[in-house]
Amino acid sequence: ERGGYDHFMLKEIFEQPTTVENTMRGRLILEDGTSKLGGLNMSHEQLMAIDNIVITACGTSWHSALIGEMMIEDLCRIPVEVEYASEFRYRNPIVTPTTLCIVISQSGETADTLAAMREAKRRGAHTLGLVNVVGSTIAREDDGGVYLHAGPEIGVASTKAFTSQVVALALFALKLARKRTLSVIRGREIAQAMHDLPAQIQKILDRAAEIEKIAEEYKDAHNFLYLGRGFNFPAALEGALKLKEISYIHAEGYPAAEMKHGPIALIDEKMPVVFIAPHDGVFDKIVSNIQEVKARGGKTIIITSRDEPALEGLVDHEFRIPETVDMLTPVLASVPLQLLAYYIAVKRGANVDQPRNLAKSVTVE
Ligand code: M6R
Repeated sequence: ERGGYDHFMLKEIFEQPTTVENTMRGRLILEDGTSKLGGLNMSHEQLMAIDNIVITACGTSWHSALIGEMMIEDLCRIPVEVEYASEFRYRNPIVTPTTLCIVISQSGETADTLAAMREAKRRGAHTLGLVNVVGSTIAREDDGGVYLHAGPEIGVASTKAFTSQVVALALFALKLARKRTLSVIRGREIAQAMHDLPAQIQKILDRAAEIEKIAEEYKDAHNFLYLGRGFNFPAALEGALKLKEISYIHAEGYPAAEMKHGPIALIDEKMPVVFIAPHDGVFDKIVSNIQEVKARGGKTIIITSRDEPALEGLVDHEFRIPETVDMLTPVLASVPLQLLAYYIAVKRGANVDQPRNLAKSVTVE
C-alpha cells in the first residue's frame, strides 16, 4: 500500500506532480488566464461584493493561508486577514455580510477550524472550504468549497495537501482577480506557470539524492533556522514545522530580515540556516541576510533558482529549483524542504509516519 516507498510520507512527497495536477484538473483556463471553480456557490454579484477576506486554519494549513493572503492581496487588492482558528473562534472577530471566510483543512475535521467556520457563519460571512477529505464535516457545512483532490494523506506530516492548498488558493485568487483587477495577459502568465508546476516538481524529485546528502551532514544538529522573505516566509515556517514534527530537532522559521532582531544571537558554527531564496523580487534583499549569517560562521543551505555571482562564497550547500512566477515559488521550494525533513528524520531513526504525541487529525480543541 506504500507503493514501494519506505514510508507514506515519502510516497506522498513523490505523488506531488500528480496531486498538484489533480487539484488543477478541469479548472485552469489557459486561454483566458483564469480558473473555473464549480463549487464556490457564489454569484458573480456576490464575488464582486467581497470587500474583505478572513482565512482561518491550523498548522500547515495556516501556512498555506499566509501564502494565500499574499496572493489575494497582490492580485485582487482585497484586504485579507489570516487567523489561527483557535484564536479566531474565541475573539470577537469583525465579520460583515461582505466578508468571505476561507477555511483551509486537509482533514475537514479539525475541531478549532470547524468551530471558527461556524462562528464566521453565525456572523453572516460566506464560508468557503478548501478541504481534501470529501464529505468531511467542514466540507458538508461550508457554503461553498474547493476540494483539493490530493487523495488520502496518511502520513501525519502534511506534504501533498500543502502544495495542493497553495495551488487551490492560486486558482481562487486568479478567478477573483480576473473578474476585478487582473489583465488577461498577466492572468495567462500565471495560469501557464501553474500548468507547468507538475513537471517542475518532478524535476526536483528526480534530484532527491542531493537533499539526502545534505541531510546526512546535518542529521545531528540540535537546532535549525529557516529564513525566507515575501511568499517564501510562510515556506520557511512550513519547512521548520516539518523538521520539528518528524525529527524532533528544534527549528524555527522567520522572515529573513527579522533575524537581526533577535535570532541572530543563536548563530554559530553549529547552526544550520536554510534560506529559501529563489530568484524572485526579494532575492537581492535576502542575499544580505545570507551574508549576515555567513559572517557569524553559520552553515548555509540555500534553496535558489539560478547561478548567481552574488552568492559566491556564501553557500555551504545549494539546491536548485526551477523558476516560476513569484507567487508560486513556495510550491516548488517546499518540496526540497519536505525531503530534507524526511531524510533527517529517517537517519535519526524516527518514526516519520507516526511522530510521537501527534494525531493526523486534531478533533479536540
Ligand atoms: O486537517 P487540517 O489541515 O485541518 O490539519 C491542521 C493541522 O493539524 C495540520 O496541518 C498539522 O499541522 C500537520 N500535521 C503538520 O504537518
